Amino acid sequence: MKMDAVENTMDLLEAIKARHSVRSFTDKMIEGEIKSSLQDTVDECNRESGLNIQLCLDEPDAFGGMRAHYGKFENCKNYIALIGKAGTDEPCGYYGEKLVMKAQQLGLNTCWVGMTYSKSKAPCVLNKGEKIQLVIALGYGNTSGKPHRSKDMMQLCKVEGEMADWFKNGMEAAMLAPTAINQQKFIITQSGNTVSAKPLAAFFSKFDIGIVKCHFEIGAGKENFSWKEV
Ligand SMILES: Cc1cc2nc3c(=O)[nH]c(=O)nc-3n(C[C@H](O)[C@H](O)[C@H](O)COP(=O)(O)O)c2cc1C
Repeated sequence: MKMDAVENTMDLLEAIKARHSVRSFTDKMIEGEIKSSLQDTVDECNRESGLNIQLCLDEPDAFGGMRAHYGKFENCKNYIALIGKAGTDEPCGYYGEKLVMKAQQLGLNTCWVGMTYSKSKAPCVLNKGEKIQLVIALGYGNTSGKPHRSKDMMQLCKVEGEMADWFKNGMEAAMLAPTAINQQKFIITQSGNTVSAKPLAAFFSKFDIGIVKCHFEIGAGKENFSWKEV
């Protein structure tokens, strides 16, 4: 998968460190240049991936309409719907996280959502064979969230020989990746300058692996290694 970072004042490593799930939002609308910049990135991701990602703004119904709370969410009126055919879990994770990074750079907060929203209320246009895989809640947060706990690096990777610096940097970024219920069900393996990332059996772990690969590439630098498909 390819796509270069969209330049911004906050670089991608800073965005990785600053991003935490946020589930409570202010009334501030997403509009003007922020909206068009996000839409441009959605279009770029769709061109590259063949997904049908859609930006849903000022649409409160999927997150409970006028009710203040829905699941753990409060006042969520904006979201990104990740839409694709069966078998697109990993690209949805990868390109969804590109959009999470872009949102963070634009001063927005996000939370991946697999469960606590109403899929049927989302006003998305689906092509034959497509479905809404997941959504990403979006908006100006009431807080900027807090860091998640992480497993130790050595529980999440295998290395043949000595660990390269770029691999360690990649792992540090991967450990900051959001995963469903913070499960971190993945193993990343280094063999020379080849890396594989394997999802372990768990709900949503194939989405998680796309997210984790997006982070690993940012931390390690894509020029330092190539992915081996698993
Ligand atoms: C694939 C996926 C699905 C998720 N689904 C939900 C959800 O349904 N509800 C929710 O409140 N959080 C959901 N989350 C957010 C995770 O709980 C959160 O990312 C994780 O606890 C790590 O915290 P962080 O995002 O602050 O780093 C989901 C995350 C991922 C990656």
